[in-house]
Amino acid sequence: SPFWPGLIEAYRSRLPVSESTPVVTLHEGATPLVPAVELSRRTGCEVFLKVEGANPTGSFKDRGMTMAITKAAEEGAQAVICASTGNTSASAAAYAARAGLVCAVLVPTGKIALGKLAQALVHGAKLLQVEGNFDDCLALASKLSIDYPVSLVNSVNQYRIEGQKTASFEIVDVLGDAPDVHCLPVGNAGNITAYWQGYREYSEDGPATKRPRMWGFQAAGAAPIVTGKVVEQPSTIATAIRIGNPASWTKALTARDDSGGRIDAVTDREILSAYRLLARTEAVFVEPASAASVAGLLKVAAAGELEPGQRVVCTVTGNGLKDPDWAISGAPAPVTIPVDAAAAAAQLGL
Ligand code: F0G
Repeated sequence: SPFWPGLIEAYRSRLPVSESTPVVTLHEGATPLVPAVELSRRTGCEVFLKVEGANPTGSFKDRGMTMAITKAAEEGAQAVICASTGNTSASAAAYAARAGLVCAVLVPTGKIALGKLAQALVHGAKLLQVEGNFDDCLALASKLSIDYPVSLVNSVNQYRIEGQKTASFEIVDVLGDAPDVHCLPVGNAGNITAYWQGYREYSEDGPATKRPRMWGFQAAGAAPIVTGKVVEQPSTIATAIRIGNPASWTKALTARDDSGGRIDAVTDREILSAYRLLARTEAVFVEPASAASVAGLLKVAAAGELEPGQRVVCTVTGNGLKDPDWAISGAPAPVTIPVDAAAAAAQLGL
């Protein structure tokens, strides 16, 4: 039907809800799976982009948040809390507003994109900037959720993972089966955990006959899973994945190993190059962290480790409008002209 009821209704039988659960939805999900013409040409594979920036608050977090806020409301919570590099706080603020819950968010001071800060504020969240990094914020949020009457809606909350796994269902529902390879950026590692759970469930008792190899990519300055060591001072321009001690670290290793996949690092330069390529050739505007999936795919292909002819899905996790600084700084400054056709034509080289 042309009406999309939101992912909880769409996948109700595969989610922990009952008839009496008060569903809180902004009709998230059903995001476009866009054929990537240039990436396919470059890699010799059939590449698709799962465009999660098309969700209501502009990132994949809405999939987890519809479930987490629905369950918090069902359990009678009055308030929710999260730590965030920006997108989780934007999504939590919106869904909490929808449910009439108080929302508290802890963000690393000065290290979240302006659009995300704006979203948390406009939806009425109580926002605290913490003098520390994301990992410090998450430790603080967890402690508060234990000591005070407030529920934690970070991805350590299993309901978040349950919601986010529906992205895999959608991909299989569109393609008819799982892809051969699935690429995605990795920060706190909740999303790679969720996708892997979704693909496993759909191959166990659903329409999928196979599972993809899971390829996760961290930013080189924030790549604890790649190096095997906590990063005390994570650093990357991709602020969304500036995380040194991922909460779902061991689950990400399970996804990698059980799928025969990989978790590698991409440099900020590679991320920005993929970011521009996506915008200019595929016409998909993502935030820098989202481009890590594509940067990683191109890196593996350049190393000769991507067999042509495979079907590949790259999740691009967040909308470019959230963090426009990199779009502007990488482009020539706009020229100002008088109201004059000849002046315009001269500047345009017409
Ligand atoms: N891409 C974007 C745009 C993100 O915002 C995040 C995480 C990720 C990728 C990585 O996903 O953490 O599940 O491995 N953002 C979190 C936040 C940490 O607070 O918004 P992950």
